[in-house]
Amino acid sequence: MTNPSLLILPGDGIGPEVMAEVRRVIDWFGAKRGINFDVSEDLVGGCAYDMHGVPLHDDTMAKAQEVDAVLLGAVGGPQYDNLDFSVKPERGLLRLRKEMDLYANLRPAQCFDALADFSSLKKDVVAGLDIMIVRELTSGVYFGEPRGIFEEGNERVGINTQRYTESEIDRVARSAFELAMRRGKKLCSMEKANVMESGVLWREVVTRVGADYPEVELSHMYADAGAMQLTRWPKQFDVIVTDNLFGDLLSDLAAMLTGSLGMLPSASLGAPMANGRPKALYEPVHGSAPDIAGQGKANPIACILSFAMALRYSFDMGDEATRVEQAVEAVLADGVRTADLLGQEGVQPVSTTQMGDAVLAKLDASL
Ligand code: NAD
Ligand code: IPM
Ligand code: MN
Repeated sequence: MTNPSLLILPGDGIGPEVMAEVRRVIDWFGAKRGINFDVSEDLVGGCAYDMHGVPLHDDTMAKAQEVDAVLLGAVGGPQYDNLDFSVKPERGLLRLRKEMDLYANLRPAQCFDALADFSSLKKDVVAGLDIMIVRELTSGVYFGEPRGIFEEGNERVGINTQRYTESEIDRVARSAFELAMRRGKKLCSMEKANVMESGVLWREVVTRVGADYPEVELSHMYADAGAMQLTRWPKQFDVIVTDNLFGDLLSDLAAMLTGSLGMLPSASLGAPMANGRPKALYEPVHGSAPDIAGQGKANPIACILSFAMALRYSFDMGDEATRVEQAVEAVLADGVRTADLLGQEGVQPVSTTQMGDAVLAKLDASL
């Protein structure tokens, strides 16, 4: 049997720093569990632009289409902020999502007990929190046409278009209902049907799909009220399904419920490949964190947990995914903290590598 294949794209800023810790976890699985991956590495984002003049080379795109799963660190940085829009680092990531047709972006927000005190919200609001945001990832205002900056009379106008077809809403809604069936059987759909036609269609299609999932309790919320409810009492939610832009905002908000953006993993899934597994890209929700890049301060947990999601969703290794998640939980329970997780006085932060060391030690202890 051939080994499962992984394409690793560390990217920019803290991307390579957090991905180095994931590489050690992957190596651990080879050495200690006999689970070997064929790993190749390539460039995406600003580093690809520096090398090739584009944020994603066609060869890299082709490789991403062939492998069983892609792992990505982060892209972007201030030195690229003034580049032409077509070659910005973020465009490399958007191209991967679009061409791999990764329409369902799973962004779980789970509050580990050890971090319940750390959230900016009261402990009882977040303790035990376990929600899943399903963000549509290949359409909406991120990709709708027309778009651009145009001359209009004696001034310019910036245009983006929110656009959703019925089939685009239908397929992401089905992903969300399927997830809800395996979880708490509750789904809340968020849009702004009160002001946007795309929201009216979204609500209608999600309701229609819901008829195929009578066991799932479906509710609808305007996304602005949803943001408020997420901070008021987030535990009312199980699965949330929403569009590309609202999902971007709501998942950053949900990240802070868990203590830090450095904690949140994600899986971007598309249609099943010939082997029955979905096309997939795994990445932390956070970005390249230019403010701390190169200082060994980044929290690698979001990226490590993204690899755990790959084990679960691409490689059918749910038990091994749980092993990684429990190792992370145990490290946090011991009080090991990167700088982003500090709240208590007198606790010294560990470096990115030391956090990796601690996770590996717990993985060893799990054998
Ligand atoms: P960011 O997520 O990079 O950083 C926001 C804040 O969170 C910063 O203070 C940062 O230090 C902190 N942070 C983020 N990840 C952390 C980690 N693992 N450990 C500790 N602290 C962490 O968002 P931003 O500053 O808005 O964007 C910076 C760049 O990243 C931009 O170019 C943006 O486009 C890009 N970005 C990329 C992705 C991605 O690659 N998926 C996601 C978001 C932003
Ligand atoms: C994310 C990021 C991306 C997005 C950017 C970097 C393209 O913010 O993954 O959440 O807006 O989708
Ligand atoms: Mn985002």
